[in-house]
Amino acid sequence: MFLQIQGIKKSFGSGDSRVNVLKGLDLEIEKGEFCVLLGPSGSGKSTLLNIIGGIDSADEGKLIIDGECLADMSEKKLSVYRRKHLGYIFQMYNLIPNLTVRENIEVGAYLSDQPLDVDELLHILGIYEHQKKLPNQLSGGQQQRCAIGRAIVKNPDILLCDEPTGALDYNTSKEILKLIETVNQKYGNTIVMVTHNDAIKDMADRVVKLRDGMIRKNYINEHKIPAAELDW
Ligand SMILES: Nc1ncnc2c1ncn2[C@@H]1O[C@H](COP(=O)(O)OP(=O)(O)OP(=O)(O)O)[C@@H](O)[C@H]1O
Ligand SMILES: [Mg+2]
Repeated sequence: MFLQIQGIKKSFGSGDSRVNVLKGLDLEIEKGEFCVLLGPSGSGKSTLLNIIGGIDSADEGKLIIDGECLADMSEKKLSVYRRKHLGYIFQMYNLIPNLTVRENIEVGAYLSDQPLDVDELLHILGIYEHQKKLPNQLSGGQQQRCAIGRAIVKNPDILLCDEPTGALDYNTSKEILKLIETVNQKYGNTIVMVTHNDAIKDMADRVVKLRDGMIRKNYINEHKIPAAELDW
C-alpha cells in the first residue's frame, strides 16, 4: 500500500482550549488512487492534508509513504520529500505575483530532478497562450490552472488539493476537475482532494468522510463517473 495512515491523532491548544481535531485515523491509499476527502468545516480535512504533506506533524500515529515512515525522516529528508514528491494545490492559488505564468510553473520544475516538459504542460493546462501574463492578468480559473501546473510539473508522487475549486464558479470548477482527472490518468499521481462539494465524490476512486475527528465513511466508488458528467 502506497500511503498508510495509522492511528493518527492531532490536537491544538492546551488546557481548557485544547481541541482534539483528529482522534485516531486509519486510512490506506493505493498508488495512483484518486481519493476525495469530505467533511464539515472544522472537521480536520486541512489538518490531515498538512500531516500527509509533512507540513504539520501528528501527535500520535504513523504516516508511511512507499514503505517509509515520515516521523523517522530527518528534517533534511523531509524537506526533500516535500520538494520532490509532493504537489500542493490550494483554494487561493498562491502564485508568485511578479512572475509570469510560465515562470511560476518553472519554479516548480526547478525543484525536481525530472520535471515534466513545461510546453507540453502549458498545452494540457490550456494556458499556453497566456504563458507570458502575470497572475493578476488572469481569471481565477486560469490562475488555478497555473497553480496546478506549478504543483504537477515536478510530477509528484502525491498531489494534495485543498478545495481547489472553492473559489470558482460551476463551469470553471468542472474544467479544473477535468484537468485534475486528466493529470491523474496521464501521470498516475496519487491524489487526495479535499472538498465541501458532495457531488465531486462521484469522480473519485475512494471516498473518505470525516466528522468529529473520525473517519465515518471510507469506501471504493464502484461507479466512478467522469468529471465532465458531474452535476450539482
Ligand atoms: N494551527 C492551528 N492552531 C489551532 N487550531 C487549529 C490550527 N489548525 C487548525 N485548527 C483547528 O482545528 C480544527 C480543524 O481545522 P481544519 O482546518 O483542519 O478544518 P477543515 O476541515 O479543513 O475545515 P474547512 O472546511 O473550514 O477548511 C478547527 O477547529 C481549527 O480551528
Ligand atoms: Mg480546510
